[in-house]
Amino acid sequence: MGELQIPRPKVRPRRLRQSAAIRSLVRETTAEVGHLVQPLFVREDASIPADIPSMPGIRRFTLPEISREAKELAALGVPAVILFGLPVAKDPLALGAYDEEGVVQKAVRAVKGAAPDLVVMADVCLCEYTDHGHCGVVRNGRIDNDASLELLARTAVSQAAAGADVVAPSAMMDGQVAAIRSALDRAGFDETILLAYAAKHASAFYGPFREAADSAPRFGDRRTYQKDPANLRESLREIALDLEEGADIVMVKPALPYLDVLRAARERFDAPLAAYAVSGEYSLIKAAAERGWVDERAIVEETLTSIRRAGADLILTYHAKDVATWRGARPHA
Ligand code: PBG
Repeated sequence: MGELQIPRPKVRPRRLRQSAAIRSLVRETTAEVGHLVQPLFVREDASIPADIPSMPGIRRFTLPEISREAKELAALGVPAVILFGLPVAKDPLALGAYDEEGVVQKAVRAVKGAAPDLVVMADVCLCEYTDHGHCGVVRNGRIDNDASLELLARTAVSQAAAGADVVAPSAMMDGQVAAIRSALDRAGFDETILLAYAAKHASAFYGPFREAADSAPRFGDRRTYQKDPANLRESLREIALDLEEGADIVMVKPALPYLDVLRAARERFDAPLAAYAVSGEYSLIKAAAERGWVDERAIVEETLTSIRRAGADLILTYHAKDVATWRGARPHA
């Protein structure tokens, strides 16, 4: 080379980047539609508005609407949905959570009837159904762990009875996985899959969800049960406990701010690993995209790839339907 005698590179990684086809051949990570789970909100009361101001593009469906949505998702190749209910009434013991005719139980039957091959997951928690907005039973101003287990187990059994393929406990009560597994088995639902929100952090990223599901705690916060975002080893311990208690799939939540937790979990455990890209992650992207500050599609694809690269198998994401729609006509990138 010229006067400066700059040495020519001996190794040329750019060789493998020279065309879309070459890049495709050496790509390590993919995020397929087949890895995605679409969260769906279902409202029992048609007077609750459908739109969620902080989550543009996401709606609260009525039962007839959710049947239609399930069909569309199945046709797009989305393999699974997870259901969250907005009941008509709330009370201290979350009666609506384990009512055979509860909103989620009815939604499970509606979705299964409309799209029998779609995997239906049901979130097992009490916060959408309690008047105080906490995920467990409140006694003397505190969340009573063991009194909550019975109600969570009842909730999961009623969801399985309605036809849910997967129950997903998210209350972060100690022993909830063992309680639910044993109740399911006793009721004859040994085939029902248990996806545990194992490392669920006390996160500000759930803000838009709590608006959507009207589930914010009316006093205090969730820091006595959801885990401290600062602790990684504690996340691994929670995951190990849930696996010992019988979880089939373990989840880390949120996703993007916790990629290190996903990576550590992937290295330590062989069980299928889920990541929940939560409402706040969705809202941040939507808000910036609406202003034209970022390219929504590119950002979504990149974040999903990152979550998969960190070690997630399946990803719960509010972008699932959009991704499936985009992929319909998408050449190799
Ligand atoms: C129920 C539950 C929450 C989320 C999933 N299940 C809310 C919370 O813990 O306050 C959050 C999901 C999201 O933000 O998208 N406990």
